[in-house]
Amino acid sequence: MAVGFFWASVLLSVFFVVLALDIMGLFNRKNYFQVDGKTVVITGGSQGMGRGLGKLLAQKGANVVIVARNKAKLESALEYISGAAVKSTQRFHFISADVTKAEENDRIICEVTEWNHGQAPDIVWANAGMATPSFLIDTSVDVLRQQMDINYFAAAFLAQSTLKAWINSPALKDVDKKSLSSVPARHFIMTSSSAGLVGVAGYSPYSPAKAALRNLSDALHEEVQFYNGARYHVSGAAAPEIKIHLVCPGTISTPGHVEENKTKHPVTVVLEEGDPVQTEDEVAAVAVKELERGYYFIATNFLGKAMRASALSGSPRNNWFIDTVFSWVTSLVWLFVQPDMDGKAWKYGKTHGLGNTKSQAAQ
Ligand SMILES: NC(=O)c1ccc[n+]([C@@H]2O[C@H](COP(=O)([O-])OP(=O)(O)OC[C@H]3O[C@@H](n4cnc5c(N)ncnc54)[C@H](OP(=O)(O)O)[C@@H]3O)[C@@H](O)[C@H]2O)c1
Ligand SMILES: *[C@@H]1O[C@H](CO)[C@@H](O)[C@H](O)[C@H]1NC(C)=O
Ligand SMILES: *[C@@H]1O[C@H](CO)[C@@H](O)[C@H](O)[C@H]1NC(C)=O
Repeated sequence: MAVGFFWASVLLSVFFVVLALDIMGLFNRKNYFQVDGKTVVITGGSQGMGRGLGKLLAQKGANVVIVARNKAKLESALEYISGAAVKSTQRFHFISADVTKAEENDRIICEVTEWNHGQAPDIVWANAGMATPSFLIDTSVDVLRQQMDINYFAAAFLAQSTLKAWINSPALKDVDKKSLSSVPARHFIMTSSSAGLVGVAGYSPYSPAKAALRNLSDALHEEVQFYNGARYHVSGAAAPEIKIHLVCPGTISTPGHVEENKTKHPVTVVLEEGDPVQTEDEVAAVAVKELERGYYFIATNFLGKAMRASALSGSPRNNWFIDTVFSWVTSLVWLFVQPDMDGKAWKYGKTHGLGNTKSQAAQ
Protein backbone atom coordinates (compact mmCIF):
# COMPACT_ATOMS: atom_id res chain seq x y z
CA MET A 1 0.00 0.00 0.00
CA ALA A 2 2.58 2.53 1.16
CA VAL A 3 4.77 1.81 -1.88
CA GLY A 4 1.72 2.28 -4.10
CA PHE A 5 0.93 5.62 -2.49
CA PHE A 6 4.55 6.68 -2.87
CA TRP A 7 4.58 6.01 -6.61
CA ALA A 8 1.08 7.44 -7.08
CA SER A 9 2.14 10.68 -5.43
CA VAL A 10 5.40 10.80 -7.41
CA LEU A 11 3.40 10.33 -10.62
CA LEU A 12 0.87 12.99 -9.62
CA SER A 13 3.62 15.46 -8.69
CA VAL A 14 5.38 14.90 -12.01
CA PHE A 15 2.02 15.33 -13.73
CA PHE A 16 1.33 18.68 -12.06
CA VAL A 17 4.85 19.95 -12.73
CA VAL A 18 4.58 19.00 -16.41
CA LEU A 19 1.07 20.49 -16.52
CA ALA A 20 2.31 23.75 -14.99
CA LEU A 21 5.23 23.92 -17.42
CA ASP A 22 2.88 23.18 -20.28
CA ILE A 23 0.43 25.90 -19.20
CA MET A 24 3.36 28.29 -18.92
CA GLY A 25 4.12 27.41 -22.53
CA LEU A 26 7.59 26.00 -21.94
CA PHE A 27 7.04 23.25 -24.49
CA ASN A 28 6.08 23.65 -28.12
CA ARG A 29 7.61 27.06 -28.64
CA LYS A 30 7.01 26.69 -32.36
CA ASN A 31 3.80 28.25 -33.73
CA TYR A 32 1.96 25.50 -35.60
CA PHE A 33 -0.88 27.82 -36.67
CA GLN A 34 0.56 30.67 -38.69
CA VAL A 35 -2.14 33.01 -39.96
CA ASP A 36 -0.18 36.17 -40.78
CA GLY A 37 -0.78 36.94 -44.47
CA LYS A 38 -2.92 33.79 -44.84
CA THR A 39 -6.50 33.64 -46.07
CA VAL A 40 -9.03 32.19 -43.63
CA VAL A 41 -12.67 31.24 -44.27
CA ILE A 42 -15.00 31.07 -41.26
CA THR A 43 -18.59 29.85 -41.63
CA GLY A 44 -21.02 31.24 -39.10
CA GLY A 45 -18.72 34.28 -38.97
CA SER A 46 -21.44 36.91 -38.69
CA GLN A 47 -21.95 36.57 -34.94
CA GLY A 48 -20.92 34.66 -31.82
CA MET A 49 -17.82 32.48 -31.79
CA GLY A 50 -17.23 32.87 -35.55
CA ARG A 51 -17.13 36.64 -35.22
CA GLY A 52 -14.76 36.35 -32.24
CA LEU A 53 -12.47 34.13 -34.33
CA GLY A 54 -12.61 36.55 -37.26
CA LYS A 55 -11.59 39.45 -35.04
CA LEU A 56 -8.75 37.53 -33.39
CA LEU A 57 -7.34 36.24 -36.68
CA ALA A 58 -7.56 39.76 -38.16
CA GLN A 59 -5.50 40.94 -35.17
CA LYS A 60 -2.94 38.28 -36.11
CA GLY A 61 -2.63 39.54 -39.69
CA ALA A 62 -4.99 37.18 -41.59
CA ASN A 63 -7.23 37.96 -44.56
CA VAL A 64 -10.70 36.91 -43.41
CA VAL A 65 -13.76 35.71 -45.33
CA ILE A 66 -16.92 35.19 -43.29
CA VAL A 67 -19.90 33.12 -44.41
CA ALA A 68 -23.52 33.12 -43.16
CA ARG A 69 -26.98 33.61 -44.68
CA ASN A 70 -28.12 37.04 -43.47
CA LYS A 71 -26.39 39.82 -45.47
CA ALA A 72 -27.08 42.68 -43.06
CA LYS A 73 -25.43 40.76 -40.19
CA LEU A 74 -22.52 39.81 -42.45
CA GLU A 75 -21.95 43.45 -43.39
CA SER A 76 -21.84 44.69 -39.83
CA ALA A 77 -19.67 41.77 -38.67
CA LEU A 78 -17.24 42.38 -41.54
CA GLU A 79 -16.92 46.02 -40.49
CA TYR A 80 -16.24 44.88 -36.91
CA ILE A 81 -13.68 42.25 -37.99
CA SER A 82 -11.85 44.44 -40.52
CA GLY A 83 -11.59 47.10 -37.81
CA ALA A 84 -9.20 44.76 -35.99
CA ALA A 85 -6.74 44.55 -38.91
CA VAL A 86 -3.11 45.40 -38.12
CA LYS A 87 -1.84 45.98 -41.68
CA SER A 88 -3.21 47.93 -44.64
CA THR A 89 -2.57 44.93 -46.93
CA GLN A 90 -5.10 42.69 -45.13
CA ARG A 91 -8.28 41.99 -47.07
CA PHE A 92 -11.81 41.14 -45.91
CA HIS A 93 -14.81 39.66 -47.66
CA PHE A 94 -18.18 38.06 -46.93
CA ILE A 95 -20.22 35.45 -48.77
CA SER A 96 -23.89 34.87 -48.16
CA ALA A 97 -24.60 31.14 -48.43
CA ASP A 98 -26.60 28.36 -46.81
CA VAL A 99 -23.91 25.86 -45.79
CA THR A 100 -26.40 23.01 -45.34
CA LYS A 101 -26.46 22.76 -49.15
CA ALA A 102 -23.52 20.79 -50.61
CA GLU A 103 -23.24 22.90 -53.79
CA GLU A 104 -23.09 26.12 -51.79
CA ASN A 105 -19.91 24.87 -50.11
CA ASP A 106 -18.32 24.34 -53.55
CA ARG A 107 -19.36 27.89 -54.47
CA ILE A 108 -17.82 29.29 -51.27
CA ILE A 109 -14.42 27.71 -51.99
CA CYS A 110 -14.55 28.76 -55.69
CA GLU A 111 -15.48 32.35 -54.87
CA VAL A 112 -12.83 32.65 -52.18
CA THR A 113 -10.19 31.19 -54.53
CA GLU A 114 -11.07 33.76 -57.19
CA TRP A 115 -11.07 36.59 -54.63
CA ASN A 116 -7.72 35.30 -53.31
CA HIS A 117 -5.97 35.78 -56.69
CA GLY A 118 -6.50 32.17 -57.76
CA GLN A 119 -5.13 30.60 -54.56
CA ALA A 120 -7.32 28.30 -52.45
CA PRO A 121 -7.81 29.54 -48.86
CA ASP A 122 -5.09 28.41 -46.43
CA ILE A 123 -7.38 27.85 -43.45
CA VAL A 124 -11.06 26.85 -43.48
CA TRP A 125 -13.13 26.76 -40.31
CA ALA A 126 -16.51 24.97 -40.39
CA ASN A 127 -17.99 26.80 -37.44
CA ALA A 128 -21.65 27.39 -38.38
CA GLY A 129 -23.94 25.39 -36.14
CA MET A 130 -26.89 25.72 -33.80
CA ALA A 131 -28.54 23.83 -30.98
CA THR A 132 -32.29 23.27 -30.73
CA PRO A 133 -32.36 21.38 -27.46
CA SER A 134 -35.37 19.42 -26.22
CA PHE A 135 -36.22 15.85 -25.28
CA LEU A 136 -36.27 13.48 -28.22
CA ILE A 137 -39.99 12.72 -28.13
CA ASP A 138 -40.80 16.46 -28.06
CA THR A 139 -38.71 17.09 -31.20
CA SER A 140 -40.26 17.13 -34.66
CA VAL A 141 -38.77 15.05 -37.47
CA ASP A 142 -37.94 18.31 -39.30
CA VAL A 143 -35.91 19.65 -36.37
CA LEU A 144 -34.10 16.33 -35.94
CA ARG A 145 -32.99 16.42 -39.58
CA GLN A 146 -32.17 20.13 -39.50
CA GLN A 147 -29.91 19.58 -36.46
CA MET A 148 -27.97 16.99 -38.44
CA ASP A 149 -27.90 19.24 -41.54
CA ILE A 150 -26.40 22.30 -39.88
CA ASN A 151 -24.25 20.61 -37.23
CA TYR A 152 -22.92 17.67 -39.23
CA PHE A 153 -23.56 17.79 -42.99
CA ALA A 154 -22.58 21.45 -43.37
CA ALA A 155 -19.07 20.66 -42.06
CA ALA A 156 -18.81 17.40 -44.03
CA PHE A 157 -19.73 19.21 -47.27
CA LEU A 158 -17.29 22.02 -46.58
CA ALA A 159 -14.56 19.45 -45.87
CA GLN A 160 -15.26 17.81 -49.24
CA SER A 161 -15.12 21.11 -51.13
CA THR A 162 -12.00 22.27 -49.29
CA LEU A 163 -10.01 19.04 -49.55
CA LYS A 164 -10.84 18.71 -53.27
CA ALA A 165 -9.60 22.24 -53.85
CA TRP A 166 -6.40 21.60 -51.87
CA ILE A 167 -5.64 18.27 -53.55
CA ASN A 168 -6.17 19.82 -56.99
CA SER A 169 -4.23 23.04 -56.33
CA PRO A 170 -1.25 23.70 -58.59
CA ALA A 171 2.08 22.56 -57.12
CA LEU A 172 4.04 25.07 -55.04
CA LYS A 173 6.70 26.81 -57.12
CA ASP A 174 10.36 26.76 -56.12
CA VAL A 175 9.80 24.26 -53.29
CA ASP A 176 11.55 20.90 -53.43
CA LYS A 177 10.45 17.89 -51.44
CA LYS A 178 13.22 18.28 -48.89
CA SER A 179 12.00 21.72 -47.82
CA LEU A 180 8.26 20.80 -47.80
CA SER A 181 8.23 20.41 -44.01
CA SER A 182 9.11 24.09 -43.57
CA VAL A 183 6.05 25.25 -45.57
CA PRO A 184 3.22 26.36 -43.21
CA ALA A 185 0.38 23.82 -43.13
CA ARG A 186 -3.17 24.20 -44.40
CA HIS A 187 -5.79 23.75 -41.68
CA PHE A 188 -9.37 22.49 -41.80
CA ILE A 189 -11.07 23.06 -38.45
CA MET A 190 -14.51 22.07 -37.21
CA THR A 191 -16.45 23.49 -34.28
CA SER A 192 -18.11 20.65 -32.39
CA SER A 193 -19.28 20.98 -28.76
CA SER A 194 -18.70 19.50 -25.33
CA ALA A 195 -22.29 18.26 -25.81
CA GLY A 196 -20.80 15.97 -28.46
CA LEU A 197 -18.56 14.34 -25.84
CA VAL A 198 -20.93 13.52 -22.98
CA GLY A 199 -24.66 12.80 -23.19
CA VAL A 200 -26.91 15.26 -21.36
CA ALA A 201 -30.72 14.98 -21.11
CA GLY A 202 -32.34 17.49 -23.47
CA TYR A 203 -29.54 17.55 -26.05
CA SER A 204 -30.63 14.38 -27.85
CA PRO A 205 -31.41 16.26 -31.11
CA TYR A 206 -28.02 18.07 -31.06
CA SER A 207 -25.37 15.86 -29.40
CA PRO A 208 -25.40 13.09 -32.03
CA ALA A 209 -24.62 15.59 -34.81
CA LYS A 210 -21.69 17.07 -32.86
CA ALA A 211 -20.46 13.56 -31.93
CA ALA A 212 -20.63 12.60 -35.61
CA LEU A 213 -18.43 15.62 -36.32
CA ARG A 214 -15.86 14.29 -33.85
CA ASN A 215 -15.94 10.91 -35.60
CA LEU A 216 -15.61 12.64 -38.99
CA SER A 217 -12.66 14.56 -37.64
CA ASP A 218 -10.87 11.41 -36.41
CA ALA A 219 -11.35 9.67 -39.77
CA LEU A 220 -10.33 12.75 -41.76
CA HIS A 221 -7.26 13.21 -39.59
CA GLU A 222 -6.07 9.87 -40.92
CA GLU A 223 -7.27 10.38 -44.50
CA VAL A 224 -5.13 13.50 -44.81
CA GLN A 225 -2.06 11.51 -43.71
CA PHE A 226 -2.48 9.71 -47.04
CA TYR A 227 -2.45 13.02 -48.95
CA ASN A 228 0.44 14.28 -46.86
CA GLY A 229 2.42 11.13 -47.60
CA ALA A 230 1.54 11.14 -51.31
CA ARG A 231 3.39 14.46 -51.65
CA TYR A 232 6.60 12.47 -51.24
CA HIS A 233 5.74 9.87 -53.92
CA VAL A 234 7.72 10.24 -57.16
CA SER A 235 4.58 11.60 -58.87
CA GLY A 236 3.66 13.82 -55.88
CA ALA A 237 3.30 17.58 -56.33
CA ALA A 238 4.84 19.94 -53.77
CA ALA A 239 1.98 21.07 -51.50
CA PRO A 240 1.60 22.23 -47.90
CA GLU A 241 0.77 19.62 -45.27
CA ILE A 242 -2.95 19.35 -44.44
CA LYS A 243 -4.01 19.37 -40.80
CA ILE A 244 -7.44 18.62 -39.33
CA HIS A 245 -8.64 19.98 -35.98
CA LEU A 246 -11.73 19.70 -33.81
CA VAL A 247 -12.74 22.41 -31.33
CA CYS A 248 -15.31 21.59 -28.62
CA PRO A 249 -16.47 24.71 -26.74
CA GLY A 250 -18.73 24.61 -23.68
CA THR A 251 -21.34 27.29 -23.09
CA ILE A 252 -20.65 30.57 -24.94
CA SER A 253 -22.73 33.72 -24.38
CA THR A 254 -23.75 34.26 -28.03
CA PRO A 255 -26.95 35.12 -29.94
CA GLY A 256 -27.16 31.38 -30.69
CA HIS A 257 -27.21 30.64 -26.99
CA VAL A 258 -30.18 32.99 -26.49
CA GLU A 259 -32.04 30.98 -29.17
CA GLU A 260 -30.94 27.70 -27.58
CA ASN A 261 -32.41 28.79 -24.25
CA LYS A 262 -35.87 29.16 -25.81
CA THR A 263 -36.45 25.44 -26.33
CA LYS A 264 -34.35 24.09 -23.47
CA HIS A 265 -36.02 21.57 -21.16
CA PRO A 266 -35.97 22.60 -17.46
CA VAL A 267 -34.10 19.37 -16.64
CA THR A 268 -31.29 20.51 -18.95
CA VAL A 269 -31.19 23.89 -17.17
CA VAL A 270 -30.73 22.04 -13.85
CA LEU A 271 -28.02 19.78 -15.31
CA GLU A 272 -26.08 22.76 -16.66
CA GLU A 273 -26.31 24.81 -13.46
CA GLY A 274 -22.92 26.16 -12.48
CA ASP A 275 -21.26 25.31 -15.82
CA PRO A 276 -18.67 27.89 -16.90
CA VAL A 277 -19.81 30.44 -19.49
CA GLN A 278 -17.28 32.03 -21.86
CA THR A 279 -17.52 35.00 -24.21
CA GLU A 280 -16.90 34.68 -27.96
CA ASP A 281 -13.50 36.35 -27.48
CA GLU A 282 -12.48 33.99 -24.66
CA VAL A 283 -13.39 30.91 -26.69
CA ALA A 284 -11.57 32.25 -29.76
CA ALA A 285 -8.48 33.02 -27.67
CA VAL A 286 -8.23 29.52 -26.14
CA ALA A 287 -8.98 27.75 -29.42
CA VAL A 288 -6.36 29.72 -31.35
CA LYS A 289 -3.76 29.41 -28.59
CA GLU A 290 -4.11 25.63 -28.61
CA LEU A 291 -4.03 25.52 -32.43
CA GLU A 292 -0.77 27.48 -32.21
CA ARG A 293 0.56 24.72 -29.95
CA GLY A 294 -0.31 22.20 -32.64
CA TYR A 295 -3.22 20.56 -30.79
CA TYR A 296 -5.69 18.42 -32.72
CA PHE A 297 -8.69 18.03 -30.36
CA ILE A 298 -9.43 21.14 -28.33
CA ALA A 299 -11.82 21.93 -25.47
CA THR A 300 -12.03 25.54 -24.33
CA ASN A 301 -12.74 25.46 -20.58
CA PHE A 302 -11.79 23.22 -17.68
CA LEU A 303 -15.08 21.28 -17.64
CA GLY A 304 -14.81 20.71 -21.39
CA LYS A 305 -11.20 19.58 -21.00
CA ALA A 306 -12.32 17.02 -18.38
CA MET A 307 -15.13 15.83 -20.68
CA ARG A 308 -12.64 15.55 -23.53
CA ALA A 309 -10.16 13.59 -21.42
CA SER A 310 -12.90 11.17 -20.36
CA ALA A 311 -13.88 10.64 -24.00
CA LEU A 312 -10.47 10.34 -25.69
CA SER A 313 -10.90 6.80 -27.09
CA GLY A 314 -8.77 6.38 -30.21
CA SER A 315 -8.47 10.09 -30.99
CA PRO A 316 -4.97 11.43 -31.64
CA ARG A 317 -3.52 12.95 -28.45
CA ASN A 318 -2.52 16.60 -28.05
CA ASN A 319 0.10 15.82 -25.41
CA TRP A 320 0.51 12.11 -24.73
CA PHE A 321 1.57 12.53 -21.09
CA ILE A 322 -1.05 15.02 -19.93
CA ASP A 323 -3.82 13.35 -21.95
CA THR A 324 -3.02 9.90 -20.53
CA VAL A 325 -2.83 10.96 -16.89
CA PHE A 326 -5.81 13.34 -17.19
CA SER A 327 -7.90 10.54 -18.74
CA TRP A 328 -7.08 8.28 -15.76
CA VAL A 329 -8.11 11.04 -13.35
CA THR A 330 -11.36 11.79 -15.21
CA SER A 331 -12.26 8.10 -15.43
CA LEU A 332 -12.33 8.16 -11.61
CA VAL A 333 -14.11 11.52 -11.41
CA TRP A 334 -16.77 10.23 -13.81
CA LEU A 335 -17.69 7.49 -11.32
CA PHE A 336 -19.28 10.34 -9.35
CA VAL A 337 -20.32 12.88 -12.00
CA GLN A 338 -22.33 10.57 -14.25
CA PRO A 339 -24.55 9.03 -11.52
CA ASP A 340 -25.00 12.52 -10.04
CA MET A 341 -26.36 13.78 -13.36
CA ASP A 342 -28.65 10.75 -13.79
CA GLY A 343 -29.85 11.38 -10.24
CA LYS A 344 -30.71 15.01 -11.00
CA ALA A 345 -32.83 14.01 -14.01
CA TRP A 346 -34.54 11.30 -11.92
CA LYS A 347 -35.20 13.71 -9.05
CA TYR A 348 -36.67 16.33 -11.40
CA GLY A 349 -39.08 13.70 -12.69
CA LYS A 350 -40.01 12.62 -9.19
CA THR A 351 -40.58 16.20 -7.99
CA HIS A 352 -42.42 17.62 -11.00
CA GLY A 353 -43.98 14.61 -12.73
CA LEU A 354 -44.61 14.12 -16.42
CA GLY A 355 -46.85 17.20 -16.58
CA ASN A 356 -43.79 19.42 -16.75
CA THR A 357 -42.06 18.15 -19.88
CA LYS A 358 -42.37 21.31 -22.00
CA SER A 359 -39.53 23.72 -22.63
CA GLN A 360 -38.97 26.87 -20.60
CA ALA A 361 -40.40 29.02 -23.40
CA ALA A 362 -43.54 26.95 -23.64
CA GLN A 363 -44.32 27.23 -19.92
N1 LIG B 1 -23.15 29.04 -27.96
C1 LIG B 1 -22.84 27.96 -27.30
O1 LIG B 1 -23.11 27.86 -26.11
C2 LIG B 1 -22.10 26.83 -28.01
C3 LIG B 1 -21.59 25.79 -27.23
C4 LIG B 1 -20.89 24.75 -27.84
C5 LIG B 1 -20.73 24.75 -29.20
N2 LIG B 1 -21.24 25.75 -29.95
C6 LIG B 1 -21.04 25.70 -31.39
O2 LIG B 1 -20.20 26.80 -31.74
C7 LIG B 1 -20.54 27.26 -33.05
C8 LIG B 1 -20.85 28.73 -32.99
O3 LIG B 1 -21.92 28.91 -32.08
P1 LIG B 1 -22.48 30.37 -31.72
O4 LIG B 1 -23.33 30.22 -30.52
O5 LIG B 1 -21.36 31.31 -31.76
O6 LIG B 1 -23.40 30.59 -33.00
P2 LIG B 1 -24.60 31.64 -33.25
O7 LIG B 1 -24.52 32.80 -32.39
O8 LIG B 1 -25.87 30.83 -33.29
O9 LIG B 1 -24.27 32.04 -34.76
C9 LIG B 1 -24.43 31.07 -35.78
C10 LIG B 1 -23.76 31.58 -37.02
O10 LIG B 1 -23.93 30.59 -38.04
C11 LIG B 1 -24.64 31.16 -39.14
N3 LIG B 1 -25.50 30.12 -39.72
C12 LIG B 1 -26.51 29.45 -39.11
N4 LIG B 1 -27.09 28.60 -39.98
C13 LIG B 1 -26.45 28.76 -41.15
C14 LIG B 1 -26.59 28.18 -42.44
N5 LIG B 1 -27.55 27.26 -42.69
N6 LIG B 1 -25.77 28.57 -43.44
C15 LIG B 1 -24.80 29.50 -43.19
N7 LIG B 1 -24.61 30.07 -42.00
C16 LIG B 1 -25.42 29.70 -41.00
C17 LIG B 1 -25.41 32.32 -38.54
O11 LIG B 1 -25.76 33.31 -39.47
P3 LIG B 1 -27.17 33.26 -40.30
O12 LIG B 1 -28.23 32.86 -39.33
O13 LIG B 1 -27.32 34.63 -40.86
O14 LIG B 1 -26.95 32.23 -41.39
C18 LIG B 1 -24.38 32.84 -37.56
O15 LIG B 1 -23.38 33.56 -38.23
C19 LIG B 1 -21.70 26.39 -33.51
O16 LIG B 1 -21.21 25.32 -34.28
C20 LIG B 1 -22.28 25.88 -32.22
O17 LIG B 1 -22.99 24.65 -32.39
C21 LIG B 1 -21.91 26.79 -29.38
C1 LIG C 1 -16.47 8.09 -32.34
O1 LIG C 1 -16.69 8.89 -31.19
C2 LIG C 1 -16.76 8.17 -29.99
C3 LIG C 1 -17.11 9.08 -28.84
O2 LIG C 1 -17.41 10.38 -29.17
C4 LIG C 1 -15.45 7.49 -29.71
O3 LIG C 1 -15.53 6.75 -28.53
C5 LIG C 1 -15.11 6.59 -30.88
O4 LIG C 1 -13.82 6.06 -30.68
C6 LIG C 1 -15.14 7.35 -32.18
N1 LIG C 1 -14.99 6.41 -33.27
C7 LIG C 1 -14.35 6.73 -34.38
C8 LIG C 1 -14.34 5.67 -35.42
O5 LIG C 1 -13.84 7.81 -34.58
C1 LIG D 1 -29.84 30.90 -20.66
O1 LIG D 1 -30.53 30.40 -19.54
C2 LIG D 1 -29.74 30.28 -18.34
C3 LIG D 1 -30.53 29.54 -17.28
O2 LIG D 1 -31.92 29.77 -17.38
C4 LIG D 1 -29.30 31.66 -17.91
O3 LIG D 1 -28.48 31.55 -16.74
C5 LIG D 1 -28.48 32.29 -19.04
O4 LIG D 1 -28.11 33.61 -18.70
C6 LIG D 1 -29.26 32.29 -20.35
N1 LIG D 1 -28.35 32.71 -21.39
C7 LIG D 1 -28.69 33.54 -22.36
C8 LIG D 1 -27.59 33.91 -23.31
O5 LIG D 1 -29.81 33.99 -22.50
